[in-house]
Amino acid sequence: MSDTPLSMARPITLLQPARLEIGAGAIARLADWAAAYERVFVVAMAPTAGFVERIGLAGAVEIFIDLPPEPDLPAVEAVLAAARAFRPDLVIGLGGGSVMDVAKLVAVLWDSEQTIADVVGVGKVQGRRTALAQVPTTSGTGSEAGIRSLVTNPETLAKIAIESQFMLADIAVLDPELTYSVPAAVTAATGVDALAHCVEAFTNIKAHPLIDGYASLGISLVGRYLARAVADGRDTEARAGMMLASYYGGICLGPVNTAGGHALAYPLGTRLKLPHGLANAIIFPHVLAFNAPVRAEKTEAIARALGMSGNLEAQAIAADSLAWCKALGLEMRLSHHGAAEHDLPVWAEEAFAIKRLIDNNPRALELPDILSIYRSAL
Ligand SMILES: NC(=O)c1ccc[n+]([C@@H]2O[C@H](COP(=O)([O-])OP(=O)(O)OC[C@H]3O[C@@H](n4cnc5c(N)ncnc54)[C@H](O)[C@@H]3O)[C@@H](O)[C@H]2O)c1
Ligand SMILES: [Fe+2]
Repeated sequence: MSDTPLSMARPITLLQPARLEIGAGAIARLADWAAAYERVFVVAMAPTAGFVERIGLAGAVEIFIDLPPEPDLPAVEAVLAAARAFRPDLVIGLGGGSVMDVAKLVAVLWDSEQTIADVVGVGKVQGRRTALAQVPTTSGTGSEAGIRSLVTNPETLAKIAIESQFMLADIAVLDPELTYSVPAAVTAATGVDALAHCVEAFTNIKAHPLIDGYASLGISLVGRYLARAVADGRDTEARAGMMLASYYGGICLGPVNTAGGHALAYPLGTRLKLPHGLANAIIFPHVLAFNAPVRAEKTEAIARALGMSGNLEAQAIAADSLAWCKALGLEMRLSHHGAAEHDLPVWAEEAFAIKRLIDNNPRALELPDILSIYRSAL
């Protein structure tokens, strides 16, 4: 079967932050832009709080650092309460996807009558009065580029998605120096998350030529730079390349979004408590191989960009991409992360229920397919 033809028939909307600052040391440029604001609320985490000094903010600054990775609803409520007490006119997200997703919600909700429950879904947010700056410190989610926020519901353990144009940053700052301190394992996992965003959009049933362009650029950058960034965290060029790949991945998420890979990764995050990037890395080779028969040309382009062999048999794709991930130091076996065979049916049902992503997959993913992928990954 050949790939779907190039089609611009489907109208899409692409939003991006109005201003981008990119480059080594770019964080120092945020102060000028931020000078117009008097009360700055920074959402950060312990490893990223130290970067606030590099911005050189004037005025009153409150830093919230007590945020857990992959925050749940109560964790977001705690940040909102702190923001309400402080009354900011600028919110800065200074961290990985966990931090930036929360900064988005703070910017639209701290001064609003709406609760988080009111805004779950697409386009429910009524508006925003507070400026928003996003400064990523991992290269993975691309959250700084987009309009979506993901929060764990502690009752169902599912991720809830909030999407709104009002959550788009006014400015994003991509400074590779902020990622020097990301440990090798986190660099590898978050890097494969960025790759998965590009690949899942590129091979998506809703793929669009405009987004294919960004996705291809992102995939090539990952092929060129991820191994280098893992090997040497202070390799500025590699860190910059990965930061751009992550941003391109973020662009892919808006108009096209991910598909089967992310759907299958979510239960591994919420049930097995794997970090988002690692969960996606473990699933990545299996879904790439599963989709290969219906996206032959695009899979070949991906394999080439990642420096894999040109053998397009599904088994070869799976083996090559698994070896590629392992070479980054990632532990790819679910059983080595505590999973057992009896966990898999429940996770498969949960993944299958994430229709917003499963329905984007280019090859129909039925329940037995998902179970079989989890078994292969075990
Ligand atoms: N909004 C979106 O479109 C989108 C897309 C993908 C994922 N996500 C969400 O993003 C979250 C994951 O984000 P992530 O993968 O960036 O991980 P993360 O933000 O949870 O960070 C991972 C770990 O790295 C640490 N860290 C961050 N920056 C560091 C630095 N410079 N030096 C040292 N340590 C650092 C953090 O403190 C944390 O412990 C998940 O909640 C996921 O659901 C959102
Ligand atoms: Fe992701």
